[in-house]
Amino acid sequence: MQKKKNKKGYIIAIDGPAGAGKSTVSRMLAEELKGMLLDTGAMYRSVAYFGLKEGAKTEDDFAHTARSLKFDPSHDRAHLLVNGEDLGLKLRTPKVSSLASSVSRYKTVRDTLTRRQRALGRSWSKKFPVVLEGRDIGTVVFPKADYKFYVTADPKIRAMRRFKQLQKAGAKTKLSDILKQNQERDEQDSNRKHAPLRCAVDAVVVDTSRMGIVQVVKFMAEHIRAHETLTNIQG
Ligand code: DC
Repeated sequence: MQKKKNKKGYIIAIDGPAGAGKSTVSRMLAEELKGMLLDTGAMYRSVAYFGLKEGAKTEDDFAHTARSLKFDPSHDRAHLLVNGEDLGLKLRTPKVSSLASSVSRYKTVRDTLTRRQRALGRSWSKKFPVVLEGRDIGTVVFPKADYKFYVTADPKIRAMRRFKQLQKAGAKTKLSDILKQNQERDEQDSNRKHAPLRCAVDAVVVDTSRMGIVQVVKFMAEHIRAHETLTNIQG
């Protein structure tokens, strides 16, 4: 992994399967480091969401949608605005989740979003630590990221967490359905031809099955701060 001297920002890659706690951990870590978060899954979800609206059917259609979207941080840097809008739960419906996984198999869609993720990550990291959350950040988007974590958890625990999250949001779902959907998505994400879900060889693996979120974030922040201090002393 590359270390630049005297830089203000740096790149943190967080990858892992669906429902491992990546989103919450990434958001909290970005807050803790007073940095920025790029939720790359939200970018794939946006392509699915707008593609559905526009009647996209083919890879070319979805690639066109990917190229046409505008991504910006919100004023408080806490959310990603897509075409000026915080789409929130509209991106989290089962239909959009499943289509996002399908469109993420398309090479042309991936190439476009990867390019845009690199541009956003590079520009934001001039001023802030940037947490990029996804499936291929440490392996493809930023293989030389300053820090890499692979966040995972037992499949049953992951399903239970998502179930509670959806219940809290008022959605009616069955635990067994979520377990099945997660399995299907993991399989699709791990076995696709282009940039499949993989743990980078140099990533720190964080199994959150028996760790609380606060504990996970503390561990990551301490890991980063210890290395930053060392780099500054050595630099
Ligand atoms: O992290 P998420 O569940 O919001 O991601 C939605 C889908 O997008 C997921 O099925 C896989 C895909 N994805 C991807 O292929 N590469 C990324 N960097 C992020 C997400």
